[in-house]
Parts: sequence; C-alpha cells; structure tokens
Amino acid sequence: MKALVLSGGKGTRLRPLTFTLAKQLIPVANKPILGYVLDQIAETAIREVGLIIAPDTGQYVKEYIKDGSEWGFKVTYIPQEPLGLAHAVKTAETFLREDSFLMCLGDNLQGQGIKHLVKRFEQEKLDALILLKEVEDPTKFGVAVLNEKREVTKLVEKPQKPPSNLAIVGTYLFSNKVHQAIDRIKPSWRGELEITDALQEMINMGLDVKAEVLESWWLDTGKKDDILSANAKILDEYVKKDVKGDVSDSSLEGRIRVAVGAKINNSTVRGPCVIGKNTLVQDSFIGPYTSIGDDAQIINSTVEYCVILEKALIRDVNRLEESLIGKNAKITKSHKTGAIKLHVGDYSEAEI
Ligand code: G1P
Repeated sequence: MKALVLSGGKGTRLRPLTFTLAKQLIPVANKPILGYVLDQIAETAIREVGLIIAPDTGQYVKEYIKDGSEWGFKVTYIPQEPLGLAHAVKTAETFLREDSFLMCLGDNLQGQGIKHLVKRFEQEKLDALILLKEVEDPTKFGVAVLNEKREVTKLVEKPQKPPSNLAIVGTYLFSNKVHQAIDRIKPSWRGELEITDALQEMINMGLDVKAEVLESWWLDTGKKDDILSANAKILDEYVKKDVKGDVSDSSLEGRIRVAVGAKINNSTVRGPCVIGKNTLVQDSFIGPYTSIGDDAQIINSTVEYCVILEKALIRDVNRLEESLIGKNAKITKSHKTGAIKLHVGDYSEAEI
C-alpha cells in the first residue's frame, strides 16, 4: 500500500501567508500541520509516499520534507494544477499504479490516527473506506448518508441542503478501482474533479465503500480561525513542560515549551504555549494558546491566543489577541501621533 498526501491547492483563504508558503506548512505549536499528518502515516507500515504539490508553493513543501527520511519514507513529488482531489489522484496514476492507497489532505488532522483504518481496509478487502465527522454546518464539506447498517448510500459535495450532518474528513483509503470511477466522472460546478463524486460512482458501480464515524477531534485548517483553533488543540494535546532556553526574573505557569537559545526576561508566560529557538520575550505577558516561532521578538507587549511565525517582531503592543502573524512581520506602537500606520501585504486583514 502507498500513501498520497495532498499538499497543493491555492490556499486563497489564507493569503497573504500562502503567497510564500503552502497552506499545509503553516505551523501550529511551531510545526507544520503537514508534519503531524506525516507522523500519523509513519505509524502505519506504509513507506512509499507521493506528495501532490502546487506549481507555486511546491518548493516550500520540498524544502520541509526533503527526501522524507525523517519519517522513514521514500518520497515522490507530483506537481499538480489545483483541479480537484480526484484530479490529484489521476495525476498520481503513474506513481500509484495498481496499488491500493491511503489519501490524506495535508491540511487536515484528526485525533484518532490512521493505523486502525488501514488495518480494517485490508482485513475487509474494501474498495474504499472513508472517515466521517458530525459537524454543525455540513454545507462546507462533502457529505455522506449512511443506512441503518451504517453502509454509505449517498455522497454529495458541498450540498446546499445537506442530507445528513456527516462531513467527509480528509482521510481516505482506496483500492485501484477508484481510477475507473474517476474516469467516469465530470468536473463539478466549481470546475473540479471531486473525490466525493468518484466515491459516489464507486457506490453506483456496486463496489464495497464503507465509512467510519470519527469520535475524536478533526481540524480542517483552511482559514485563519481554523489555524488558531488547530493551534489551541495541538497545544492542548501535545505540549509538555520543557524549558531549554534561559528564563530570568519571569514566571512560567502551566505547560510551556521554550526552545534552545530562547530568552525570557522579566515576563509572565501562561501555558499551554510554545516559544521557538532564539526568540526573545522581554517585559511581556504571553497568554495561553500562543505559539511563537523561531528568532521572533516580543518586547513590552501582551499576546494571547496567537500564532506568530518566525522572525516576527511585536513591540509595545498592549494586547494582541486571536492573530496570525507572518514571518518577518513587524507590529509596533507608534509613539508620535497615536495614528495607525500600516504597511500590510496583499489580502492582509487588520482589525483595529
Ligand atoms: C475537500 C473535499 C470535501 C471534504 C473536505 C475536507 O473540500 O472536497 O469533500 O469534506 O475536503 O476538508 P475542499 O477543501 O476542496 O473544499
């Protein structure tokens, strides 16, 4: 069995960060979401991994994963124009050949892991196994209908009138029969070849498509608020107290990870929270659910429930909350006029 990890797409809802970063690489608790997805795949016996990358951000994915040896993988990079998930499978046909495969969306993470799904798929010799999650607003997702035997009877992509509240989570298992189904479908209203339509086609073809309902958490990190809640969830789940940097005249409360070379002076830090390598926190308060990347500086400021990427500078800011700050961004207080002076990138958002 192989794995196909989708790390392409445009990431338009996460601009401007996605002008210089694939959305799957936006870090939560200072590690790209994609890294957690690969960790979950590494828990299975799968070692051959195909990575779908976009023409404009693929280089960043390559820089992060390299040859995949960190996870024990043999990696093949497959460039794809973003024309849908089923189109990605089609593009990967030479890599997948006749093998069955696990498909994961590189910006989706779920708390249950993948190992047991692979086991079930193989034991029951299924043609497809999908993961579903009850959600409040199914219109944003692919939606599945199950019968009383918990078999999948119908699948529909982003329905206006959802036939159930079970959304399709971005973890799928397929036999090679999926290729025949993909050959039979047409692009959807959004011009994409939908994997949901391919799954429906598999059902129409009388193939064995099963689903499992996820009881654990699921994070789909398409927008700023999703990144912030993914960050909070990951900080809650994974971060243990581990202080490697220098702390002086400061109070550290709760689970806080301070990386090597970081300096915390005359400050209060409340966990869960991570502070990156060589980052300086000076005369500041860092509140819960904050991740600060490497080489950043937080000076004389209050920061809470934020994701701050590497080399950012926050100085003299009274209270920064629920914010996602990109690499090398500078946020400082203007002492002269009290006016707001901005130099923000295309598609940036500032709430003042
Ligand atoms: C895609 C799938 C959808 C699925 C979702 C999960 O949507 O088409 O069926 O529920 O991923 O994140 P997209 O991210 O392309 O809007």
